Amino acid sequence: MNIRQKVVAIVAALFVVLIALEIFVQERVLMPSFAELERSDAQTSMTRVQLALNRTLDGLESIANDWSDWGELYQFMQDRNSAFITTYTSVSAMAPLKVNMLMLLDINGNVVFSSARDLESGNPIDIDFAGQKVLAHDFPWRTNLSAGQPAQGLVRTNLGVMMLVAVPILDGTGAGRPRGMALMGRLFSSKQLDTIGVQAQVPLFMSDVGNTPSHEEISETDTATTVYRPYDDIYGRPLMYLHIEVPRNITARGHIAVNYSLWYLVGAAITVLILLLVTLNRLILSPIARVTRHAVAVGERGDLTARLNFRGTDEISRLAGEFDRMVESVAQSRRQLVDQSYQAGFAELAKGVMHNLGNAMTPLGVRLSVLSGRVANAPLADIEWAAAEFESGAADEVERRADLVNFIRLGCRELAATLLGAKGDIAAMERQTSIIAATLADQLVNTRNEAVLESVRLPDVVSQALDIVPDTCRQTIVIDADESLRAVGSITVERTVLRLILQNLIINAADAVRATGRDKGALHIAAEIFREDDSEQLHLECRDNGIGIEAQNLQRVFEKGFSTKSRETNHGIGLHWCANAIHSMGGRIWAVSEGAGRGASMHLVLPIGKRQIPAERLEMET
Ligand SMILES: Nc1ncnc2c1ncn2[C@@H]1O[C@H](COP(=O)(O)OP(=O)(O)OP(=O)(O)O)[C@@H](O)[C@H]1O
Ligand SMILES: [Mg+2]
Repeated sequence: MNIRQKVVAIVAALFVVLIALEIFVQERVLMPSFAELERSDAQTSMTRVQLALNRTLDGLESIANDWSDWGELYQFMQDRNSAFITTYTSVSAMAPLKVNMLMLLDINGNVVFSSARDLESGNPIDIDFAGQKVLAHDFPWRTNLSAGQPAQGLVRTNLGVMMLVAVPILDGTGAGRPRGMALMGRLFSSKQLDTIGVQAQVPLFMSDVGNTPSHEEISETDTATTVYRPYDDIYGRPLMYLHIEVPRNITARGHIAVNYSLWYLVGAAITVLILLLVTLNRLILSPIARVTRHAVAVGERGDLTARLNFRGTDEISRLAGEFDRMVESVAQSRRQLVDQSYQAGFAELAKGVMHNLGNAMTPLGVRLSVLSGRVANAPLADIEWAAAEFESGAADEVERRADLVNFIRLGCRELAATLLGAKGDIAAMERQTSIIAATLADQLVNTRNEAVLESVRLPDVVSQALDIVPDTCRQTIVIDADESLRAVGSITVERTVLRLILQNLIINAADAVRATGRDKGALHIAAEIFREDDSEQLHLECRDNGIGIEAQNLQRVFEKGFSTKSRETNHGIGLHWCANAIHSMGGRIWAVSEGAGRGASMHLVLPIGKRQIPAERLEMET
């Protein structure tokens, strides 16, 4: 599992736990508290129903009070005049009272007058309660009758539940001894039920006593909370139930709010995850992945030229910077190592060459000393002396002159013999020198049997080559490195050999510039990669603005010993060595020039990336 997957897993797990916690809190704390709130709201509504019912009964009682505290009625209860009945209990007289039943009782409970009517039509109706002639002896309000106390309550009739109030009949001033009791009843019709429901602001229903419990009870469905309240009649017997159904709006709203918060949490989780991933990716994971890829590539391919080049000041950028610095110092050490091993190789080679040269030089030295002895012993002085005496005419005698001629003849013969010997010596010395030259050439070709391939960038190799040319060349030649050198990137070549080839080309270019009489010139170096025979090739062009090469010499410049420079300083070996070195690497070299005075270009083609340098070989070579 990589870091990205781990972080995502941890954060996702965290959010899953949070969401589970939120669901738990919703189910166990929030929703139950909403339900509790709903129940208490339903109970409050039921209390409002109770208050509305009480108000209705109070209203009925106060109507009854107004009516019964009346002089005419007080008089009627004494003399029973029929005029009162006809005048004051007619339909029109009773209509404002909005009562279905009126009963007048004397102080003993005998029914003096009773009537029952329909409220709408005013027609008489048959209510069993109104049919009593005398109050039953167990009628609960008998004490109220004797004490002149009002009472209110509910009774069951043949036409349903009826609200009933009883008030004392007084003389119209609210005083005097009660002369009985007026009972007024209003049927608990569905209209009445609706009116109370409207007052309590809740849908109200009435049901008969059945199996429902004897005390207030609450039941809940998914959509509504129902509160049942039982009512007894004035005898204390179960009479009816009023119940209300309160829609569970609070729970529904609660559900919506809770769902919103859940989705908010899920949304926040997804957003945080995405943000975290993007931020992690940008700031940490991508850079780390880059550093890791880079480190693996350096480890696997041994390419020490690539750099991370992170900008920024955060920890990863600093780590990358340190890594680059480390790779640079490893690259530098490796370069030094290879250079040293190359130099060591050179030293070893030089030892061999010296040995061979020494072997070849010994006979050369012997020949030289023989030649020198021969020349030293040649009778040149004697011949010159004899010749001078002969020419001066000092020797007059014929005999003396003949001796001189003979002496000169013998001297010349000896001189001829010396010359002949010297000729033989010179021929032998020529043979020796050609053996030395052949030894040297052999060494040059055989030197490069151990190739060390390195991953390099061309601008670096050019600057390394510039480091090892003589100061005078550096002062003469300005290197104009083309952008293509950088664009080619990192390539695998024999760096030390390429560096030496470039060194030769830079020195030649400096010589060519000086040959024009100028002391400043430029060497433009450009590169390109192309494919040939299914392998990648590097094409390097080094163009100077020096003296140029004549057309007939374009091939010859690569010949061993071909040089147009002073024999004392140059031996015509540089380009020959370059050509040999390039051929042994599987490449080629050629010269292009538009003629004398028009500059020259050296073209090199080298196969690249043929193989990687194994680390253990480097170690062996050191
Ligand atoms: N850039 C150049 N411009 C003009 N002529 C060149 C250039 N490079 C080489 N030549 C010619 O090619 C000849 C051979 O070059 P080469 O490097 O092999 O030998 P050299 O420079 O003369 O001597 P050495 O390199 O052995 O010191 C040079 O003498 C010169 O005439
Ligand atoms: Mg040269």
